[in-house]
Amino acid sequence: MKAVLLCAGEGTRLRPLTWSRPKHLLPVGGRAVLDWVLSDLADAGVRDIVMVVGVESRRLREFVGDGSRWGMTAAYAVQPEPRGLAHALSCAGDHLGDERFLMYLGDDLLNRGVVTEFADGFMASQADASLVVKPVQDPSAFGVVVMEDGVVTRLVEKPKPPAPSDLAIVGVYGFGPEIWEAVDSIEPSARGELEITDAIDYLVRHGHTVGCHVTDGFWADAGSPQALLSANRYFLGLLDRRIDGDVDGASTVTGDIHVAAGARVTRSEIVGPCLIGTDCVIEDSRIGPNVSLGAECTVTRSAVEESIIDDKCRVERVRPGLRESILGPEVTVCDVVGSAGPSALLLADYTVIAPAGGE
Ligand code: G1P
Repeated sequence: MKAVLLCAGEGTRLRPLTWSRPKHLLPVGGRAVLDWVLSDLADAGVRDIVMVVGVESRRLREFVGDGSRWGMTAAYAVQPEPRGLAHALSCAGDHLGDERFLMYLGDDLLNRGVVTEFADGFMASQADASLVVKPVQDPSAFGVVVMEDGVVTRLVEKPKPPAPSDLAIVGVYGFGPEIWEAVDSIEPSARGELEITDAIDYLVRHGHTVGCHVTDGFWADAGSPQALLSANRYFLGLLDRRIDGDVDGASTVTGDIHVAAGARVTRSEIVGPCLIGTDCVIEDSRIGPNVSLGAECTVTRSAVEESIIDDKCRVERVRPGLRESILGPEVTVCDVVGSAGPSALLLADYTVIAPAGGE
């Protein structure tokens, strides 16, 4: 099976983290967003992937390479300007013949197993297109699907309230070759983009069958700090307890935590779910719940909860601590005392916050 993975988005809502790398490579639950996505697609039987990337794609190409790490072959297509998802798909057209394929928005993270269920159902069906949807509270922020008697009768991108349906389009689609005519026939939307939602609505209006797979499981469009943190919580929640590093007798460890090899935990409290990366050093601190620490981090006399801390960060004497923070690689935060409670920091690579003269 082939899949087109759309990864050309700029990740503006995650700046400054996305100045140095695409949002698809930010870590959640100890792995890059894209690693989770490609593993899910591989589990669903995808063997050929077409990555649609923007003009600046060096880091994505380095990360995915030839795709063999996921048992796939990877090809690349460039979307020169952000002109919408239907336009992005058309950029991959040369790599796809008349076969049925999946399309996946590269920052979408879903409950494990949903992609496999959807792909199996779509490939076995006669539908010309199909998509995954989820009932949500705020459908106007998404594309929505209107269903009547189990059949998709209309699709609307970002409907004005009240939305005609609460079934939000999640960003995982299946298409047959009929989609190419639809993509070529639609006009730009009010936001100036060629919307894939409009292309699928075109199929419905021209008598084609459009299916839909309703999921009620986890879904995050990992494009904002809050969504990234919620994805981190979800994937950490899947962890089994495993302690490969050293935890001294003066420390307590509760819940599902993973302490990787080479990590040392001294006089500290670790509350799962929590991931302590390879060669981390934790002293006199409280970590968790819902914290992932990358490799070689040092946390001393601090508390960290609900946060993503990338490789080689140093957090020292931060009181009462960090909460809902995302630190890029090699960030240093020392001697921060928050008078209004824990600090929520969003800091890009190599940032240093420390007292003058100290560090
Ligand atoms: C896109 C789609 C929308 C879908 C959403 C899912 O919106 O156009 O239909 O519901 O992804 O994340 P965008 O993120 O481009 O606003």
